[in-house]
Amino acid sequence: MHTQVFVDDPVKIGQNFAGKHIISIRQFDPQSLEILFHKTSTIKRCLQNGEQGEALAGKVITLLFFEPSSRTFSSFSAAIKRLGGQTIEYQNPMQTSSAIKGETLEDTVRVFEGYSDGIVMRHFEEGAPARAAKALSRIPIMNAGDGSGEHPTQALLDMFTLYEKFGRLDHLKGVIAGDLLYGRTVHSLLKGLSFYPGNTFYLLSPKELRLPRELFEEYTKARVTLVEIEKETDIPTDCQVWYWTRVQKERLADPSTYEVLKNRFIVTKKLLKEKGNADMIIMHPLPRVGEIDPAIDTDPRAYYLTHEVPNGMYVRMALLSLVFGK
Ligand code: CP
Repeated sequence: MHTQVFVDDPVKIGQNFAGKHIISIRQFDPQSLEILFHKTSTIKRCLQNGEQGEALAGKVITLLFFEPSSRTFSSFSAAIKRLGGQTIEYQNPMQTSSAIKGETLEDTVRVFEGYSDGIVMRHFEEGAPARAAKALSRIPIMNAGDGSGEHPTQALLDMFTLYEKFGRLDHLKGVIAGDLLYGRTVHSLLKGLSFYPGNTFYLLSPKELRLPRELFEEYTKARVTLVEIEKETDIPTDCQVWYWTRVQKERLADPSTYEVLKNRFIVTKKLLKEKGNADMIIMHPLPRVGEIDPAIDTDPRAYYLTHEVPNGMYVRMALLSLVFGK
């Protein structure tokens, strides 16, 4: 398969996903997202009807996860197997691979290029998947989360979930709460929503965890309106979505900061009654560590476990089919 070599400005997807590295949500646009979401809906319907996929038959994909993961690792693994492919699964390579002997990231991915048809990589360093892509000459790599940089496939599943619910990705109003400084899912999601007109998002965070200024400026120059707030009382009552996130403890230099900042904003029945509405949905990329009261889980508006989790596998199946499929 021909692979487009990744350069600093990521290769745009356009209408053709085949053989491309997936590094950033910036590679997408409304046209490529329409293709992906159409494919996702088809795959979801087929799977729910008991049909099996074969798009990855004969392919082996390496899952190389340098940071812990439950959902992203397992949903990629399930997606590959449900498409007839096989996996080499490497979790925690800093403890179990030759990385511990000092092997470079570039050499590590070149080795797996010798064994497999593609790599899905999570890394604790921002920009690591882009670096790895430059070292590869034959196979594509997918970014499964890089430090506090991006999490493009999480944004794709979040956007698909919004699209399924509201039938559009424009003219949405929402709250995004929590750790907007280090939260890579928020960085990718807001960029993706900035492709569409008329979106307004209220950013609720402690001032220490505000969205990085360069991203705030970039997104507001695009098509999304951002309003920073610091109190739940400032949440408008007509939002379509509340997207909550955890404070990224592992990225804070001082653990005592975490104790001060964690769970500043919690979704409770009381808050939903005061500021919610009947038509909204509640999202969270997970894991949650106290930001959403479990009493909310049975509320039909709670989409994190019932919709985002399964959609993660369907969206990744669609993406894998388009990038690696015949
Ligand atoms: N949402 C998400 O990335 O979860 P994991 O860290 O468990 O993969």
